[in-house]
Amino acid sequence: MGCSHLGFLLLIYYFLLVVLASESPKSFPIMAFDVGYTQLFGSDNMAVHREGKLVHLSLDERTGSGFVSQDLYLHGFFSVSIKLPADYTAGVVVAFYMSNGDMFEKNHDEIDFEFLGNIRGKNWRIQTNVYGNGSTSIGREERYSLWFDPSDNFHQYSILWTDSQIIFYVDNVPIREFKRTESMGGDFPSKPMTLYATIWDGSDWATNGGKYRVNYKYAPYMAEFSDFVLHGCAVDPIEHLAKCDNPQSSEAIPTEFDTKFPRSSV
Ligand SMILES: *[C@@H]1O[C@H](CO)[C@@H](O)[C@H](O)[C@H]1NC(C)=O
Repeated sequence: MGCSHLGFLLLIYYFLLVVLASESPKSFPIMAFDVGYTQLFGSDNMAVHREGKLVHLSLDERTGSGFVSQDLYLHGFFSVSIKLPADYTAGVVVAFYMSNGDMFEKNHDEIDFEFLGNIRGKNWRIQTNVYGNGSTSIGREERYSLWFDPSDNFHQYSILWTDSQIIFYVDNVPIREFKRTESMGGDFPSKPMTLYATIWDGSDWATNGGKYRVNYKYAPYMAEFSDFVLHGCAVDPIEHLAKCDNPQSSEAIPTEFDTKFPRSSV
């Protein structure tokens, strides 16, 4: 009897594992770079490797560089793995974000991960931002220290955006949950956005408020990107027609992935 009992428990255990695993952001399909993205600026400083599995963006005296998604998305799960440049990176900003600032000058939406350069021996800092319909009052920037050195290896940075909340994940750990409230009114991001990844010179403000500037003696600064996930409702950039069946519904998009407690922010 003991034996079958154990077997039954194991069965339940495996069942739970399978369910949990299938809810993990990791299970979304990874696409080749060219399938979802295209070059944005600084083409000399962008290189695509390993059949689109790996992209290098660099910053030197001449220019930074960036790439942009081919489609606009209304809600979804958007993820990329990034390895940041190592050693002295003061003033160097690497960003993974979504925005519609090119279409809505006065009332744009934006959801950002920004990495603010680093002086040797200090931790990289990561910043998140949310702008809704041009309002900067709702999702003020929050800064965190990471619990690892993001220049040592690739780590996964993800944005979940539904009509009720926005969650920022680092390696599947939610570091910020931003829920829509009644009082926000129309100030919650609700128009289609494009995804961007960029590296640029933020000397004037990035590291200790601009105290440490980019030092081009150490250039080029290179950030590496892989594991591209664009899982959402794509919207045609010209017609603004949704390519998925029901653009208003976030049914296809889980509202939350796991319940791990967020790391404390610093
Ligand atoms: C967004 O802002 C514009 C311009 O300020 C305004 O006309 C519009 O009503 C706002 N949208 C929502 C949903 O509140």
